[in-house]
Amino acid sequence: MAQNATLTLNGKSYDLPVIKGSTGPDVVDVRKLYGDSDVFTFDPGFTSTASCESKITYIDGDAGVLLHRGYPIEQLAEHSTFLEVCYLLLNGELPKASEFADFEKTITYHTMLHAQFDRFFSGFRSDAHPMAIMTGAVGALSAFYHDSINVDDPEQRRISAHRLIAKMPTIAARAFKYSVGQPFVSPRNSMTYAENFLHMSFSVPAEDWVSNPVLTRAMDRIFILHADHEQNASTSTVRLAGSSGANPFACIAAGIACLWGPSHGGANEEALNMLMEIGTVDRIPEFIQGVKDRKYRLMGFGHRVYKNYDPRAAVMQKTCHEVLAEVGHGDDPTLKVAMELEKIALNDPYFVERKLYPNVDFYSGITLRALGFPTTMFTALFALARTVGWISQWKEMFEDPQRKIGRPRQLYTGPLRRDYAPLETRG
Ligand code: CMC
Repeated sequence: MAQNATLTLNGKSYDLPVIKGSTGPDVVDVRKLYGDSDVFTFDPGFTSTASCESKITYIDGDAGVLLHRGYPIEQLAEHSTFLEVCYLLLNGELPKASEFADFEKTITYHTMLHAQFDRFFSGFRSDAHPMAIMTGAVGALSAFYHDSINVDDPEQRRISAHRLIAKMPTIAARAFKYSVGQPFVSPRNSMTYAENFLHMSFSVPAEDWVSNPVLTRAMDRIFILHADHEQNASTSTVRLAGSSGANPFACIAAGIACLWGPSHGGANEEALNMLMEIGTVDRIPEFIQGVKDRKYRLMGFGHRVYKNYDPRAAVMQKTCHEVLAEVGHGDDPTLKVAMELEKIALNDPYFVERKLYPNVDFYSGITLRALGFPTTMFTALFALARTVGWISQWKEMFEDPQRKIGRPRQLYTGPLRRDYAPLETRG
């Protein structure tokens, strides 16, 4: 049954339609409020605002549930592959065998970069952070692939999405190779997506990287866990940039820039640095006291939406144990610190009252380090995996007939109109 909310303002009543989703909280539709009443709604940080309609990802933060197109993340992480999840996010349904074979071939055959693009990397300083390189390099894709940047053409949108998913591992691996002073390694069409990425990251001219099914599966699962997360800061950035009609490569570069922040994707790097700084279990109480005294935050803990255990963190913790056992680091002291810290935090009133639980970043750093990546690569790997989420959300926005340029309003508290005074008259 259609429902309305009523807002009473200065003695006048306004009926606001209430819209139901397939699940989750209803929304109060305020789109006509300003036109009808001359007031804005005020919600910095968007804590109570649905910025768009979407059919891609659903999170129930209180229950700790994450669904992609309806499928629970635990099932996808256990039974699916990253490329299948990419197809699902982009197209709405799991692929049939023939559809998947076509998709896998398309992505595989788009992994190479234009030869001139490789020279682009050498413009960066050798100590550049991989995320700085990623932001610049991905934005530069629009200079190399301008045959797919007409955003009004669905076929060009599809090609750009495929190019981004395919080329991101090649760009991320090159950002890594550049930062460690090793030559670039070309993609191999005989390898799977995750295998290829590990090969491009760890093969050197003198020695090929040797494929390991446990580590390859772990890499693929880490990609699945980061693939999409509804309207988070970087996804909202991609949508906002895209709403002006900017090309998809530029929009994804904007998303990467936003992801880099320590409150968002940058937390995986910060979380491992924090665990290493704590160093030993006996130093945890002193560290926890520092959190309570608000000197710093417990990185890899807390989430705007999850007020329960992040379901991605549970899968990540399991993957972490598998990887550490495989590489012979089962007694890694950082893992011991992480597990003890988690146990203490989950029982401490400070964290319990604020509903602070481990998020995906708490165990991802230890896992990525065991796979052989330096901390500076962690957020770049997050960007690689999130690209499919960003581009799926961007594509959905273009398919929405109600698309409008994103243009928030503000509560202005600055000076009122005043007249310019010439410099010499200012005391
Ligand atoms: N450590 C200590 N206290 C915290 C933490 C934390 N990690 N997170 C939140 N709080 C406290 C905060 O001080 C506040 O307490 P009080 O009400 O007494 O002032 C309360 O919890 C609510 O915090 P908030 O900042 O209003 O919550 P938010 O929803 O705006 O922030 C967050 C969400 C993720 C930015 C925050 O939890 C945080 O900074 N966490 C650490 C960084 C991190 O791990 N980020 C990765 C997020 S998951 C990966 C991704 O999707 O990007």
